[in-house]
Amino acid sequence: MPIQLLGTGSYTPEKILTNQDLEKMVDTNDEWIVTRTGIRERRIAADDQATSDLALIAAERALESSGVKASELDVILIATCSPDMAFPSTATLVQHRLGAVNAFAMDLSAACSGFIFALETARNLLESGRYGTALVIGAEKMSSLLDWQDRTTCILFGDGAGAAVLRNEEGSKGGLGPCNLGSNGSLSELLLVPAGGSRIPVTAKVLEERSNTISMAGQEVFKHAVLNMTKTAKHLLKEAEWDAKELALVIPHQANQRILEAIRTRVGVEKDNVFVNVDKYGNTSSASIGIALDEAVRQGRLNSGDRVMLLAFGAGFTWGGMLLEWRTPA
Ligand code: ACO
Repeated sequence: MPIQLLGTGSYTPEKILTNQDLEKMVDTNDEWIVTRTGIRERRIAADDQATSDLALIAAERALESSGVKASELDVILIATCSPDMAFPSTATLVQHRLGAVNAFAMDLSAACSGFIFALETARNLLESGRYGTALVIGAEKMSSLLDWQDRTTCILFGDGAGAAVLRNEEGSKGGLGPCNLGSNGSLSELLLVPAGGSRIPVTAKVLEERSNTISMAGQEVFKHAVLNMTKTAKHLLKEAEWDAKELALVIPHQANQRILEAIRTRVGVEKDNVFVNVDKYGNTSSASIGIALDEAVRQGRLNSGDRVMLLAFGAGFTWGGMLLEWRTPA
């Protein structure tokens, strides 16, 4: 049952925070950030913008590009680790504002791997035959989880949202291909937001220690990201019997240019065939692949029949990849 991507959309907030701006906030410099991460600037949501506001715009753009009406949606999934609130889900807030009255909506949490986890979940719902059309969104206001005095983390992240509309199109060719997902909770301590949930609710002490913000063992995360994304990419290529050189485009989670380069050389993908926009947006967690996919489409980087790989790694740890055979929507 071919599941096709009918259209994509994305949104990044207007406010640009450059490395030079960060130099005035913490003890860092443009040269350090660019050489260690490849990031030059990131987008930061306005104070009155929540994750659902970013998600809504990306969703509207995806619906417009796919020619699908909100009322045709059966499923809305939002991958996020920075929801508007504990409940209701960010997805139900977006469902209401879109007017998607026939859809059920829920959030899904897999940190930076969220977009691929949501795509695979939507694909299986559509393949069940019980649902016809799905909207998948990755949306994050990572700036709300940052300690702006911690130079080791605040330079890495940004805000944004990416979305895609999926449909089960009987008789069509290509579309979503093999997917491989994984998790290893034993390493959860290496990348986490320790407080602000049920384990350690927010108290004055938490706010003072800023333990409701991201805490990360950067070098360990780096190592596991390269290992698991490389393993996943090779596994998928073997399963599909594709050669790495046949990939027209790899759209990886945008965390760090050096992680992308390490994976690229290990998997054997041509340099021009890896989509990179981490320089403009930093790490937008579960939004990054949706934003990159939409930019690739709008830049005309994808042609019908192109072989594409999505690849991600994030807190949990979680990781995953998916192959697509691109079909330019009619
Ligand atoms: N500016 C200037 N100096 C800094 C900064 C900064 N922003 N941050 C750290 N430093 C200093 C450190 O204090 C340290 O100084 P010291 O040697 O005097 O102690 C020095 O730079 C080196 O620090 P390291 O942590 O060893 O630097 P490293 O080369 O590992 O780079 C980085 C750090 C960029 C975080 C890297 O480890 C990384 O990218 N890890 C992956 C993390 C990641 O991508 N996380 C995102 C979530 S998971 C995902 O999306 C895949």
